[in-house]
Amino acid sequence: MPERLDKFLASQNLGSRKEVTLLVRSGAVTVNGLAAADAARKIDPEADQIAVNGQIVQYRKYLYLMMNKPAGVLSATEDRREKTVLDLLPPELYRRGLFPAGRLDKDTTGLLLITDDGELAHRMLAPKSHVYKLYEAQTLRPVTEADILAFRSGVSQGGQSFAPARLWTEKRTWGEAAMVEIREGKFHQVKRMFQAVGNQVLSLKRLKIGGLWLDQALPAGGVRLLEEAEILSIFDGELYENRPLNLDFIKNP
Ligand code: URA
Repeated sequence: MPERLDKFLASQNLGSRKEVTLLVRSGAVTVNGLAAADAARKIDPEADQIAVNGQIVQYRKYLYLMMNKPAGVLSATEDRREKTVLDLLPPELYRRGLFPAGRLDKDTTGLLLITDDGELAHRMLAPKSHVYKLYEAQTLRPVTEADILAFRSGVSQGGQSFAPARLWTEKRTWGEAAMVEIREGKFHQVKRMFQAVGNQVLSLKRLKIGGLWLDQALPAGGVRLLEEAEILSIFDGELYENRPLNLDFIKNP
């Protein structure tokens, strides 16, 4: 669909509307090899080749960002009082229309996807898509075999029931991490599932969505663009239903 050159350049994170207008006026922008004089002229992002200072602008219809969410910020687009994940975006990655696809609690850390592609977010979050999210939790008391079996058959808390989930433990330098995989995204779900078995989550971090892992190189609050293959990997996580339940680690610690 044709759109104004200045709007296109701003949408590709090349500056504000004012800045890109100046860029066009300076003669730095070409459309199909010819200098563009008018920032308001129409171009077709899918058909025309736009370059800035000789560098071709790779057209991104949507933006897909991975954030390592720190504790203490809201998974929201704006808030009058508190800092949101969008406030953490560097200006060169900010675009109107971005939102966090799926929420993490204020005190939850880890993998958060930020995009302006509503369709992808909807597909990722729909329970029928079976996109599993993997969380690492620190819990008040150690995970037991009974907890694993309870999660496996589905627990209920506060009148709400949760779909079967896989629970196991992994060794960390700080102790034993409880690993939980869920495909729903109900309010405070992981915390409430542990409450349902008489335990308590002390800290929670999301490590994986579908087949997409949190980039370990991203510091807390860090954000980067996702590659196309990474976006696709969200939908090719291994199917939970096909995996056997393994209790060996509890029987032979
Ligand atoms: N479950 C929770 O309890 N909190 C989160 O932030 C995510 C999943």
